[in-house]
Amino acid sequence: MAAQYRFPDNFFWGAATSAHQIEGSPLADGAGPSHWHVFAQEPGRIANGDTAEIACDHYRRYGEDVELMRRMGLKAYRFSVAWGRVFPEGRGRLNQKGLDFYLKLVDALLDVGIEPFLTLYHWDLPAALETQGGWANRDCADWFADYAQTLYRALEGRVRYWTTLNEPWVVVHEGYVKGTHAPGKVSLREAPQATHNLLRGHALAVQAFRADGKGEIGLVVNLEPKYSASEERADREAANRAHVYMNQQYLDPVLLGSYPEEMAELFGSHWPQFPPEDLRLLREPFDFLGINYYSRSVNRAEPAEALTGAAPVRQAAEYTEMGWEVYPDGLREVLAWVKRRYGEIPLYVTENGAAFADPRPVGGRIDDPRRIDYLRTHLRAAHAAIAAGVDLRGYFAWSLLDNFEWSFGYSKRFGLVHVDPDTLVRTPKSSADFYREVIQSAGEVLQKD
Ligand code: FCB
Repeated sequence: MAAQYRFPDNFFWGAATSAHQIEGSPLADGAGPSHWHVFAQEPGRIANGDTAEIACDHYRRYGEDVELMRRMGLKAYRFSVAWGRVFPEGRGRLNQKGLDFYLKLVDALLDVGIEPFLTLYHWDLPAALETQGGWANRDCADWFADYAQTLYRALEGRVRYWTTLNEPWVVVHEGYVKGTHAPGKVSLREAPQATHNLLRGHALAVQAFRADGKGEIGLVVNLEPKYSASEERADREAANRAHVYMNQQYLDPVLLGSYPEEMAELFGSHWPQFPPEDLRLLREPFDFLGINYYSRSVNRAEPAEALTGAAPVRQAAEYTEMGWEVYPDGLREVLAWVKRRYGEIPLYVTENGAAFADPRPVGGRIDDPRRIDYLRTHLRAAHAAIAAGVDLRGYFAWSLLDNFEWSFGYSKRFGLVHVDPDTLVRTPKSSADFYREVIQSAGEVLQKD
């Protein structure tokens, strides 16, 4: 009985963060600003007018943060590189001091036996590239691959696990369809171009890795099962459109070689005819897929809703502070769906976690039982996927630290570790203790309630 939730011995137990959300000091040591830096300065873009100027001050406190990870027993740490620290103008002139930060971070991780999982693009495009059209410009894919190649060479032998893009769907949906993320555009014309250039950038970066890198490289997408609110045909079709738009738009081209047919229906005349040689490029084989999972949605037809004509229907269920339904079985479901649709490819859960309104620390402790429940139930679901034959090789809790949650600023707290917004003092929450026990027991404590 005790072994019911035992995970494989070499399973990567990790936590995840991203550069812009935790580092702070965005312009230190010669770094160039990102388009998020510019975006956050526009009035009304970010809740409470928050910015990532300080964030968790990880740029200066990374040593302390690696020590927190060590104490938690993490085997792996997923972080991203801020492109503009390495290339302040996005390309051309290298900024050695910016690169050095990541060399130091990686060495600190390796010193304590934590495997670095490096994300090349977690949403912070150098502002200088945005002024040249950003991802809507075809050249951006080449700029990205050049930047990637520099990192492969600089970190060769130290970083074995790489990912190209984090959640291209969010980059485009929030950045080009809704305008709620940088670059803040609302343009159905540019959205498909950005999508395509992001994926071209991914493929070119994988090609560069084959030439210059060592280890494994993958792509990270966010997936959500989409259910229909009723048996009505209109609702079922709406749920299916939402599903294709979010779950298949990015995976079909890179794993099957073509965009889903429905994309042209969703975008109408804005959906371009992409050249066949581009589609061949997108299919460049890569080594693993990272899946970020938070929630599901149940949908009804809503013609006013752009693109999908689908609107979520609130369920009689628990919701997080983000307004996301807690639905653990969806994690098992998306993992099983990927295997069914795309075949055998090693998988990682590269993000999973929850924002709850935590109490303030009392005597150096913070009790966050709802986050513990979230972790427990989702890890059980991950285990069920493994038991059903899914090749799942690791799990990364989002997030190591309370951090800058994009347009929500600091108002949403996902951390296993509390970060005091004024003093920046770190206090591991009870969920961090729980996670340490999970790791130490290789999952066996998931048995207990
Ligand atoms: C994901 C992002 C991550 C964080 C979590 C809550 O979409 O990859 O940066 O914002 O959501």
